Amino acid sequence: MKIEFYERVFMVLSAILLVVGLLAVFGTVAFAGAHLPSPAGRIDPKKVRETAPFNQPGVTQTADGEYEVVIVAQTWSFVPGEINVKRGANGEAKVTFRAASPDVIHGFMIEHTRVNAMIIPGQITKVTATFDQPGEYLIICHEYCGIGHHGMYGRVVVE
Ligand code: CUA
Repeated sequence: MKIEFYERVFMVLSAILLVVGLLAVFGTVAFAGAHLPSPAGRIDPKKVRETAPFNQPGVTQTADGEYEVVIVAQTWSFVPGEINVKRGANGEAKVTFRAASPDVIHGFMIEHTRVNAMIIPGQITKVTATFDQPGEYLIICHEYCGIGHHGMYGRVVVE
């Protein structure tokens, strides 16, 4: 079978691109900690506001520089909207977020961190972020969730 020169060139380029793409995926998994969210439990979306811990959303300090945050993501806000944490003696604040939605799918992305998750009605989303710099970090809903989607954000304030 005869393969044209340019066809051969493009076949080689395509193969290189494929290998680079696969290496990028495996590289982020192996070296940058990319992973799928692990199952963190289920919840009846109609009863989110009555079910513990989501009946009392808020911030709990569990150790020096470690926090547990319970969030209700609803149309169109995060409750609580502002999360205040202090860095511990090691200079880091390790924050574990547990979030649920009583209505539709919301996004849960925190700028300058690796947190990028979905909050799906019926599922509990659990993600952990480590903050080693003080400042304000926006929490952004990056799944379209209705007419107020663009105004759905919160913040983490790290001291
Ligand atoms: Cu909630 Cu977009």
